[in-house]
Amino acid sequence: MKYMGSKKSMLSNGLGEALDRSIGECNRVFDLFTGSGAVAWHVAQHYEREVIASDLQAYAVALAASVIERTEILNSRRWVDSWFQRAEDRQSGDFPSLARLFQNQLKDGGITEKASRAKELCSSTDFPITRAYGGYYFSPIQAVWLDTLRKSLPNNRVHRKIGLAALIIAASQSAASPGHTAQPFKPNETAGRYLMEAWMRDIQFLVRRAVDTLSKKRAMIQGKACVSDANELAKQVSEGDLVFLDPPYSGVHYSRFYHVLETVAVGKVGEISGNGRYPPSSERPRSEYSLRTRSKTVFDDLLRVLSEKGASAIVTFPADAASNGMSGEDVSVLSGQYFDIEEAKVSSRFSTLGGDKKHRDARQNATELILRLSPR
Ligand SMILES: C[S@@+](CC[C@H](N)C(=O)[O-])C[C@H]1O[C@@H](n2cnc3c(N)ncnc32)[C@H](O)[C@@H]1O
Repeated sequence: MKYMGSKKSMLSNGLGEALDRSIGECNRVFDLFTGSGAVAWHVAQHYEREVIASDLQAYAVALAASVIERTEILNSRRWVDSWFQRAEDRQSGDFPSLARLFQNQLKDGGITEKASRAKELCSSTDFPITRAYGGYYFSPIQAVWLDTLRKSLPNNRVHRKIGLAALIIAASQSAASPGHTAQPFKPNETAGRYLMEAWMRDIQFLVRRAVDTLSKKRAMIQGKACVSDANELAKQVSEGDLVFLDPPYSGVHYSRFYHVLETVAVGKVGEISGNGRYPPSSERPRSEYSLRTRSKTVFDDLLRVLSEKGASAIVTFPADAASNGMSGEDVSVLSGQYFDIEEAKVSSRFSTLGGDKKHRDARQNATELILRLSPR
């Protein structure tokens, strides 16, 4: 999964230990900004604790739910075959045939001309993902598979959750864009080969592989994932709960980076525009944590509510100044107003922040503060 804020690498680099120390004494574990779900998955898989994960974005909640809401490993894959069969049955008619033909001839000819043809082709269909992103983030047939698999998701609750998360993961892994989906690679001399490479990826393989990975994971205790504002859900925290806080640090809303995954999660999208093929901003969740004028105030409110509830917390934040106007220093000072800081350490992780010009190697080393907070 390509995810710029993922704490996955930090779990084996300081964060895992911090969680281990705090979890021993806690009841439930909340992950209020779950993102890729990496921390919620980790806790649910390794500790006998109910995990409650939330995010403003539906794709993040779908990822978390696919593991933390299930206590059984799934061995059978027969449901996957029938799911793919139902999707294939929806691929009748001219458009899917033309998309398949296009894919077979993808390697012949220049990428600029191929991209124009793909865009023209995809603008003529009613498949929502294909119409919005085909010819940009996905080749026509990749997009058709995403659409038809999305429409054919199983009714069985467990299979549906795994299937949806697998689709989101496969979309992220195949999207022709650097690290996130703020903008697709351009079909020019520099980025054209990355576009082509991404369009050649086999969506069916990626979905099946993600299903396999997810099916082998399970929670020790059944948890819950929901779409919610962190400050709202914080009101449901109780004494003895542990809350993991990994708030946004970017001054650009996360929904701008991940709108393609959100469309896969919800299955529809309104009118899109711009180089990034964004849906209208009214359809993209906005976060006060990404506003320089509001970030400190909302974070302060969150910490105050959690301390009033008697919860403990773990906070991670970039050590240096971040583009949303907060810094590691601010986070320490705000936390110290309400909690005892049991432990403060600095860890490093790879980040795939946007805005770089290298396309492929968007990974940077970032220094991140980890604070372990206990109630006064
Ligand atoms: C730094 S990322 C979290 C990364 C996550 N810990 C991981 O390991 O993948 C911040 C997340 O907060 C979410 N978010 C932003 N504002 C929010 C809010 N007010 N309430 C809940 N989630 C929010 C974003 O959608 C994004 O997924």
